[in-house]
Amino acid sequence: MKLFFPLVVLAIFIIALSCQNDSPQREDLALEAAREFFRVTDVTVEDSKRLYLHYCSVCHGAEGKGDGFNAYNLDPKPRNFTDSTFLSKADSAYVVKVIEGGGRAVDLSAMMPPYGKTLTAEEIEKLAEYVLFLSRGHTE
Ligand code: HEC
Repeated sequence: MKLFFPLVVLAIFIIALSCQNDSPQREDLALEAAREFFRVTDVTVEDSKRLYLHYCSVCHGAEGKGDGFNAYNLDPKPRNFTDSTFLSKADSAYVVKVIEGGGRAVDLSAMMPPYGKTLTAEEIEKLAEYVLFLSRGHTE
């Protein structure tokens, strides 16, 4: 019994030490490599486009021109993101707010649905960037 306590302490010490020397650092390195990979291959743009086509293009159109197949149903019309009168002064915080809370959050039509409960903060962020990307005349 007398030996038991020091042995436990020793075991914990060894486990703690081996964790410190090994996995966290390796994980950090793997994360860093993944970040670098995504940055270099521009996967984030592809990702945002996929999300946009899935959730937004029915109303806003595949190229953001407000001409999705559901647009004829709506009054007011979904925004044409490529029309510079709308988003030229917007920043991503504003667009994030619209996507999260829907039209109501910014005194626009409630026909613009809220996505705060459907999408993660990261996905909303990506979509906001993509909307701003479209509003600057890019399509790819
Ligand atoms: C059901 C149709 C519909 C869908 C789906 C939809 N929207 Fe909208 N959206 C609208 C309408 C309608 C408006 C315009 C509201 C108004 O003018 O009062 C709008 C407005 C906006 C605005 C405001 C632009 C501005 O000029 O202030 C943004 C940003 C936006 N939508 C982004 C998105 C994104 C991103 C998605 C996908 C996650 C999406 N919308 C999905 C209908 C939709």
